[in-house]
Amino acid sequence: MKLSLNRTGRSVSGPVVLVIMDGVGLYKGRAEGYPGNAVDLAGAPFLKDQLQHAPIRLQLKAHGTAVGMPSDEDMGNSEVGHNALGAGRIFDQGAKLVAGAIASGQLFTGSAWMDLVGSRENPGAAVKGATLHFIGLLSDGNVHSHIDHLIAMLRKAHEAGVRQVRLHILLDGRDVDETSALLYVDKLEAVLKELDATGKNYRIASGGGRMKVTMDRYEADWSMVELGWKTHVAGEGRQFASAKEAIETFRNEIPGVTDQDLPAFVIGESGAPVGQIKDGDAVIFFNFRGDRAIEISRAFVESDFNVFERHPKVSVKYAGMMQYDGDLKMPPVFLVDPPAIDETLTEYLVAAGVKQYALSETQKFGHVTYFWNGNNSAKISEALETWEEIPSDVISFDRKPRMKADEIGAALVKAIESGEYGFLRVNFANGDMVGHTGILDAAVAAVEAVDQNLPRILEAVNKKGGILLVTADHGNCEQMYEVNKKTGEPLKNDKGGFASKTSHTLNPVPFLVLGNVDGLEASGVAGAGLANVAATVMTLLGFEPPAGYLPSVLRWK
Ligand code: 3PG
Ligand code: CO
Repeated sequence: MKLSLNRTGRSVSGPVVLVIMDGVGLYKGRAEGYPGNAVDLAGAPFLKDQLQHAPIRLQLKAHGTAVGMPSDEDMGNSEVGHNALGAGRIFDQGAKLVAGAIASGQLFTGSAWMDLVGSRENPGAAVKGATLHFIGLLSDGNVHSHIDHLIAMLRKAHEAGVRQVRLHILLDGRDVDETSALLYVDKLEAVLKELDATGKNYRIASGGGRMKVTMDRYEADWSMVELGWKTHVAGEGRQFASAKEAIETFRNEIPGVTDQDLPAFVIGESGAPVGQIKDGDAVIFFNFRGDRAIEISRAFVESDFNVFERHPKVSVKYAGMMQYDGDLKMPPVFLVDPPAIDETLTEYLVAAGVKQYALSETQKFGHVTYFWNGNNSAKISEALETWEEIPSDVISFDRKPRMKADEIGAALVKAIESGEYGFLRVNFANGDMVGHTGILDAAVAAVEAVDQNLPRILEAVNKKGGILLVTADHGNCEQMYEVNKKTGEPLKNDKGGFASKTSHTLNPVPFLVLGNVDGLEASGVAGAGLANVAATVMTLLGFEPPAGYLPSVLRWK
């Protein structure tokens, strides 16, 4: 069906510009005396002034059920946040869909599971004797994966009669406490022991920190994926007797290292790796989120893959937890159907002939394109859409918290000044990427870098008589220290300092309306969240939001 929008007769005279300050939320804890709020600590005069005095200033929910997560205990993340922003509705997200498919048993009757694993009655490859490998992020962060999903699949594989299982575990410390890897490893080892007391058949074979091995995204650093291939497939790398030994050894050798940065390791016995991936094996990549799963999936399934030399090049049955990219059909085989996000804001605006511009640096480029468009990587219209990517540095961002903020600011101003676009969206990665390092001073500098770019963006918007919307996809840098959930007190680490928090938060995000706001007012929608933004953009551009979209948070007086 061809989409169309009705005109209302009221619109902003200039462009609508949406700035997404990735990972910049509004701290909602016991604010007084909380020492870990990078927004508060930053010399960020523009943002702080607008948070108090912007002509229209609202807050939006950016976590939990408001963005399609299973519960309100789940923090927000960029996938669900950008999906909600770009789709104008709340879709059940991967975390919820996978948990549901496991609870209902559907995951275990689908064609992918039956082909790779199977059951006693209907044996698939692994029940018939192939080794079954699982690769993925081992934590309960529920951003990319959940350990409970892995354990449920292990139990089911065991019940079906699978003899050989090998696990390739990516250590988190980014969506969960920064040195919590052993909690998950111990939990997993206990299950493996229960399923296979010999310790020979169901076992961990390799792993490493998620920011060092396998989980690159948006082609920022393919060498991570190449290292993943060497580690998981070839079994090449430093050997240890167990994952625990690897983690403890690295922690001793690299003081202060956090889980996300732990080096790659291989589990070996008498010098030989215990779990190389071989021709004919079955491989399940158990992350449900796509951005950091696409590259390794391509290496496994593309016959003409040539980004790096795969030694050895193996032919396996490969399934993703989900299909990570609907346009690329990557991977072709998957266990759970992804959310069917359709009729996005981009599609509607293309149908209405509105020219659109999307901009970010590499680390978040897919967020404002692929996630924004419901996890599709292709444009709807070459003629009406311009995407601009500023290459990110390959560096730990605490060392360069400005990242590419200034280049992004300059590119956005240029795009606004060109007068070509009706709607422009941009993601500043700083608050999030630096927030994930857990280093407060760097996060403060990150917020300052974003803040310094906002005034010139507003100036360009004002010259065109447009509207500037400033928001975020979820919180992160406003809470850089863990707090005691009951008392709100910041937690201390064992060295007497504050315990760093690297993960996202449950906090709301700002929604500031700046520029040519004459004739506009807040519409008073109760409990608004990120999914109300798409209808808001439509309202500003002079269109009636379509049925099914969550209502606009602004209206014409
Ligand atoms: C990551 O992938 O870097 C984190 O797990 C989540 O961060 P994002 O949702 O902000 O990308
Ligand atoms: Co993040």
